[in-house]
Amino acid sequence: MSILVTGGAGYIGSVMVEMLRQQGQRVVVLDNLVRGHRAAVEAEAPFYQGNAGDRELVARIVEEHAVEACIHFAALAYVGESVTDPALYFENNLGQSIALMGALVKAGVRRVVFSSTCAVYGEPQTVPIPEEHPQWPANPYGWSKLLVERLLESYDQAYGLKFVSLRYFNAAGATLQHGEHHEPETHLIPNVLAAAQGRLPYVSVYGQDYPTPDGTAVRDYIHIVDLNTAHLRALDHLRRGGKSEFINLGNGKGYSVLEVIQTARRVTGRAIEVRMEGRRPGDPSHLVARADKARRLLGWEPAYPDLESILRTAWEWRQAHPEGYGVGGSG
Ligand SMILES: NC(=O)c1ccc[n+]([C@@H]2O[C@H](COP(=O)([O-])OP(=O)(O)OC[C@H]3O[C@@H](n4cnc5c(N)ncnc54)[C@H](O)[C@@H]3O)[C@@H](O)[C@H]2O)c1
Repeated sequence: MSILVTGGAGYIGSVMVEMLRQQGQRVVVLDNLVRGHRAAVEAEAPFYQGNAGDRELVARIVEEHAVEACIHFAALAYVGESVTDPALYFENNLGQSIALMGALVKAGVRRVVFSSTCAVYGEPQTVPIPEEHPQWPANPYGWSKLLVERLLESYDQAYGLKFVSLRYFNAAGATLQHGEHHEPETHLIPNVLAAAQGRLPYVSVYGQDYPTPDGTAVRDYIHIVDLNTAHLRALDHLRRGGKSEFINLGNGKGYSVLEVIQTARRVTGRAIEVRMEGRRPGDPSHLVARADKARRLLGWEPAYPDLESILRTAWEWRQAHPEGYGVGGSG
C-alpha cells in the first residue's frame, strides 16, 4: 500500500516524502511543478507531473500504487497573490481539492491528511490561538483552505472520509537533503539567511509599532521535521480508526522578527542588514498557536522547539545548496 503525497515537490512535501521513505513506507508523488522542484523529489520515489485535481490521473495512481491514504499539500500559498488573483486560489486550492477528494472517495480511499493553515482563523481574538477560535479568514488564501475544511467535514459525514486537518503556523528549518526554496520568497527566515549569504542586500522589517515587546510582529515557528512527524502521527491516528480532527501545528511560543534576525546573526556569524518599512496591510501583531492538542491527541513532541536549532538547520542546508534547487526555481 502507498501514500499519495500531492505537492511532494514543494518545501514541506519533499521532507514528508523523505521521512516516509526513511520509515520504509511506500510513497507516490503528484505535483504539477508550478511552484515545486523536480530535484526536491528523490529519484527513487514514483513521481507524476500533473494536477492534484486530475480525476483520471488520480484514479490511475490509486489503482497502480494501491493508495491507502493521501497527504494533500498541493496548493498555492501566497497571501498577497490570493488578494490580487482570488480566482487562481479558489480554482487551484478549492477546485482542485474538490476534484481530488471526489476521485479519492470514488476509488475507495478514506484517509486524508490535509495541509491547512492558521490563516483559517483570520485576525486573532485570543492568543495563543486555540482550534475552537472563530474562523473568518482575512484573505482568499485562508478562505480557500477553510472551504476545504468544510468539504472534508461533509465528506466524512456522507462518505465516511476520515481526515486530519493540520493548521500550520510558520514552517521553517531544513533537513540535510531538503530545504526552503520558494520563488519569489516571502518567508522571513529564508530571506534573513539570503541576507546573511550576501544574496540580498538587507532584510525588510515590516512594522515596528506593534503592541509587542520590541514593536515587531511575533510569529510561531515550527521545524519542518516536527511538522512532518505530526503528519506521520496523524496517519497512524487514522489507521487506528481515529475520528476526524482539526489540529494546530506550532510550538506555542512566539518570536519577534527582530529576535529571528538577532538569532540568525549569532547562528551564521554574519552581519545582516535591516531596513525598517511600514506595516503590511492585514499582518496581525501576534500569531501563536495553542499547541497542546497535537501533543495530547497524537502524542507529538517537537524535537526542535527552539529558534536556534530551526535556524541552524536552515543555514546548513543553504550553505550546502547556495542556489537552493537551482536558478529559476523548478527543474
Ligand atoms: N510554508 C508554510 O509555512 C505553510 C504554512 C501554512 C500552510 N502551508 C500549506 O502547506 C502546503 C505546502 O506548503 P509549502 O510551503 O511546501 O509550499 P510549496 O509551494 O513549496 O509546495 C506546494 C507544492 O504544490 C504544488 N502544487 C500547487 N498546486 C498544485 C496542483 N493543483 N496540483 C499539483 N501540484 C500542485 C506546487 O508545485 C508545489 O510543489 C500548502 O498547502 C500550504 O498552503 C504552508
